[in-house]
Amino acid sequence: MTFDLEILPDEEWAALVANRLEAKLGPGARICLATGTTPVPVYHALSGSGAFAEVVTFLLDEYGGLPPGDPGRCTSMITRDLVERVEPPPTVMSPEVDHDDPGEAAAAYRELIGDCGLDLAVLGLGANGHIGMNEPGSTAESVTRVAHLDESTSRSAAGYGATATPTWGITVGMSELLAASEVWLLVTGEHKRDILNRTLHGAVDSDVPATFLTEHPNCVFFVDESAGLTG
Ligand code: PGA
Repeated sequence: MTFDLEILPDEEWAALVANRLEAKLGPGARICLATGTTPVPVYHALSGSGAFAEVVTFLLDEYGGLPPGDPGRCTSMITRDLVERVEPPPTVMSPEVDHDDPGEAAAAYRELIGDCGLDLAVLGLGANGHIGMNEPGSTAESVTRVAHLDESTSRSAAGYGATATPTWGITVGMSELLAASEVWLLVTGEHKRDILNRTLHGAVDSDVPATFLTEHPNCVFFVDESAGLTG
């Protein structure tokens, strides 16, 4: 196990992670970013000036079947939580889920990411151990693709403002994420304690795709005390 576990005080977690993120951003950096609840305070804590100039940013995943502009779409989340808050606004690449042939769109996104490669992937931990839409059952070799969502993942979209219940999406695959030079997993809140514990200390297998990150040569778990302290 080579990963680095950083357990930070709840009230300082977002600012500390934001500082570390800003230090990684620079012209030509290729970064994959998650949406969802966890990274929001980090994006909000970015200083906002110049940080994303000339950074190439890729969205980790996107729901299919939600209308363009739906508040629950990952593109909408990254727009309101990051793009609209920093100057100059980052250009965020995302898979074309509205394409007539989502499989073709996923292949195009896979090629784009494969051609560029990722310097850093900033990820969140699903309550069921998923990473992006790499749901339980996804292997370390799974590529960027159209993915069927677990029921719990479908349901959680409502919490992000989705006006319908998505059943599928396009996600960056575990293989492209594991090929990134550096990977961060952000984990906050008491409700993530059990799945974090399983991720860090359980068997590495596709039941919990997050466990594959523990074998990445350069992975940092940024955890707040609510999620990371036991007892
Ligand atoms: P959350 O979601 O950040 O909203 O907890 C994480 C995830 O499901 O990947």
